[in-house]
Amino acid sequence: MSEWSHLFDPNSAAPARIAPSVLDADFGRLAAEIAAVEAGGCEVIHLDVMDGHFVPNLSIGVPVVASVQKNSKCFLDAHLMIAEPRRYAAAFAKAGAHSLTFHAETVAPADREKLIGHIRGLGCRVGIALNPATPADAVFDTIPLVDIILVMTVWPGFGGQKFIADCLPKIEAIAKRLRHGQWLQVDGGINLDTARVAAAAGANSLVAGSAIYRSGDAREAFRQLQQAAREAQSGGGPRQR
Ligand code: DX5
Ligand code: ZN
Repeated sequence: MSEWSHLFDPNSAAPARIAPSVLDADFGRLAAEIAAVEAGGCEVIHLDVMDGHFVPNLSIGVPVVASVQKNSKCFLDAHLMIAEPRRYAAAFAKAGAHSLTFHAETVAPADREKLIGHIRGLGCRVGIALNPATPADAVFDTIPLVDIILVMTVWPGFGGQKFIADCLPKIEAIAKRLRHGQWLQVDGGINLDTARVAAAAGANSLVAGSAIYRSGDAREAFRQLQQAAREAQSGGGPRQR
């Protein structure tokens, strides 16, 4: 894990990082789609795993994660939108995922600590995700135990949806409880405008799918999003040159 320790540095506030979601990439040339954002400085790839139960869609599974791992140097951030995260955690870890984020709605509060221990035992960082209707206080007790808190700003299942601005107070409430070294990740509907809004609210990890992979120039879209998020995070307007 040490090669990734700078992404979870407990001694300083993290610069905002864009985590491209490959959900909207061309899966026939996935390695090239990932290489494009890597060339722009990307360090984290977000992999959306769906099971057709927890969300009404199917997406990538274990073999795709394994292929991505062989073709990318990035930290692989697996977002498990699946009803039974415990059942599949080991397979995704073995395939090369560096972090596993499970949904709060799928694991009762009393069972979370055990699952988190299991995932850490697999050598992965751990995240907990909240659907738009799940309140911040549903995870307050879990925040100190995890590396990543993921706030969904669309209903999970599909790329290309509109950012739900009603989730912003939740981002702010969680940001107040965040310590250095943790990611407050926002996922869904991120574009140049909403990246600024989310980063200003306290997010330091922004997932972007369609804004990158439907843009026609993934590398440049990545670069612009990361710049916008970092400017907003530091409270600034346009960067001084
Ligand atoms: C939604 C996923 C996403 C999402 C991102 O179910 O978790 O990561 O597809 O795509 P955009 O950025 O297009 O909302
Ligand atoms: Zn996601």
